[in-house]
Amino acid sequence: MDYQLDLDWNDFLQRYWQKRPVMLKRGFKNFIDPISPDELAGLALENEVDSRLVSHQEGRWQVSHGPFESYDHLGETNWSLLVQAVDHWHEPSAALMRPFRHIPDWRMDDLMISFSVPGGGVGPHLDQYDVFIIQGTGRRRWRVGEKVVMKQHSPHPDLLQVDPFDAIIDEEMEPGDIIYIPPGFPHEGYSLENALNYSIGFRAPNGRELVSGFADYVLARELGSRRYSDPDLVERDHPGEILPSELDNLRKMMLELVEKPEDFQGWFGEFISQSRHELDLAPPEPPYQAGEIYELLRSGEILQRLGGLRVLRVGDRCYVNGEVIDTEYLQAADALTRNFTVTGEMLGEALEDPSFLAMLSVLINSGYWYFKD
Ligand code: SIN
Ligand code: CO
Repeated sequence: MDYQLDLDWNDFLQRYWQKRPVMLKRGFKNFIDPISPDELAGLALENEVDSRLVSHQEGRWQVSHGPFESYDHLGETNWSLLVQAVDHWHEPSAALMRPFRHIPDWRMDDLMISFSVPGGGVGPHLDQYDVFIIQGTGRRRWRVGEKVVMKQHSPHPDLLQVDPFDAIIDEEMEPGDIIYIPPGFPHEGYSLENALNYSIGFRAPNGRELVSGFADYVLARELGSRRYSDPDLVERDHPGEILPSELDNLRKMMLELVEKPEDFQGWFGEFISQSRHELDLAPPEPPYQAGEIYELLRSGEILQRLGGLRVLRVGDRCYVNGEVIDTEYLQAADALTRNFTVTGEMLGEALEDPSFLAMLSVLINSGYWYFKD
């Protein structure tokens, strides 16, 4: 399904993105759910799929983690089933993320889908990331409070909540309504009837993740072999002191590594093109021969990108799931980066080159792209 989002993106980015929460009534007109509650429940039976059930009864919160074997024990109120990264497992649901590509792909994370019965929700809480929550079937009341410093507590070891808050948004959402919530604004959703909610989540690395990711890259490539040296050393009063100028030199050594554009870009491309959730990889068996791929694409067959696969470009280089695509055919690499479905025509002259075709065969035989139908 081709979801059309009715939104002035320039205005949204200027006024709301990372600044204020906003309710976008009827963001999607005539919204049709890409998945049914039964299909969602089915996904949460699978080993590879990350899911949880959150319920509450008289102020006592319970959390259990999937895979689930059955749902027979659940009553008719006060629980919610939340399934992470559904875009990896269910192609029609992944289509719901496309209209949000006005925010760059590298900032996007995954699609979480929840099914809640009346009274169901995860309680008042904060998230670290931006989120667009789309109302699917059913109605749910969403409240959002002002961003203020709030103490978090755990009514259950796997649940982080905040105290009740005054609402700056308090509305019943109906199918097709979207609420955008920037990081740090407290919010809670309570179902009024059986309801599906779709959360498009974003990612924003913190300094710790960047430093640790870059350190892994430095180690793997054995960069930074130059050692500290001090040929100008002079005698000092205090043998136990480290001088500011020495700290400066040490800092420079570290910055030198980060400041090499080749290394920094190469690292970031690899780092950020890795998915935070498992991919539904199914390499074709038997693998395709390069010649077959050529024939299929030339005869009009279409390549589909695997749901959740991250394909990103930094300068002239494209990165797929943590690895660089090594090719000089920039137009073809750009077509793979920009589009979720790719035709032979989009790949152009690159298809005639055996080395490009060999690279494409590796991507297809890894299960990263597959022929539609
Ligand atoms: C949900 O309950 O569907 C979304 C949970 C959240 O607020 O992040
Ligand atoms: Co939240």
